[in-house]
Amino acid sequence: MEIFYYPIEWFEIVKSHKLKNKVIGFVPTMGALHEGHISLIKKSKLENKITVVSIYINQTQFNNENDLKNYPTNIEYDIELLKQNNVDFLFLPNYGIMYPDNYKFKITENEFSLTLCGATRKGHFDGVLTIVAKLLNIIKPTNAYFGEKDYQQLLLIRNMVKALFIDVNIISCPTVRDKDGLAFSSRNNLLTTKEREIASIFPKTLNSNKSIEDMKTELINSGFTIDYIEEKLDRLFAAVYLGKVRLIDNVKK
Ligand code: PAJ
Repeated sequence: MEIFYYPIEWFEIVKSHKLKNKVIGFVPTMGALHEGHISLIKKSKLENKITVVSIYINQTQFNNENDLKNYPTNIEYDIELLKQNNVDFLFLPNYGIMYPDNYKFKITENEFSLTLCGATRKGHFDGVLTIVAKLLNIIKPTNAYFGEKDYQQLLLIRNMVKALFIDVNIISCPTVRDKDGLAFSSRNNLLTTKEREIASIFPKTLNSNKSIEDMKTELINSGFTIDYIEEKLDRLFAAVYLGKVRLIDNVKK
């Protein structure tokens, strides 16, 4: 696996005959990799000749300083895991590289991005859309892979790509869950053992046939704080807190 840090390095690699006419798959991540990320990588490996992964904790999408400070990182482990999965290239940029303008330019969607996760996380989706547009402009993949775990993010990215005529296929990948049903998430690492046990009540409740009000009551009684549970687009979207850790999930209705 080749690691690169600057867009110019990638432009040189693409120009060299090594990648001529090769179909490129791209999996953007913020690291602390788990089975959810690996499922995206496996799909990219199947559907493309070359797979590029990026790891970059994108500070502009964090609306809360402590969330950014506490975001789990494990870069040595991540690199090992990517090598084991035969990833071809890893892009590891930093803020200076990704934001030469110091975030003076940004991409804003002003409707769906203000609902659900965007209602309480001000500016979150501006940060997501801006970094994804930058990454797609650099890598210029044929296919880019995103998880249904972050369904609102996936839909916004799909619509941004259409709106800006970015020439890429956005491929959605199903949510990968732990044995007890909890969706894998980098933030699960921050749960205490007790909280991790309780956490499985979250997906179980969303999959029950209860009313949204009854779901909220059940979750509150189990120790969760509710951000939102809402039905939209034939899906149930939800975000809750367990202690200081924010968990999101969505299920088809
Ligand atoms: P991150 O949370 O690291 O997730 C990277 C990709 O993995 C996203 O497309 C996400 O939806 C997917 N993913 C995470 N958990 C998953 C699971 N349990 N099952 C299936 N897919 C899962 O999402 C981001 O990073 C960032 O917002 C990013 C798009 C990289 C922009 O900074």
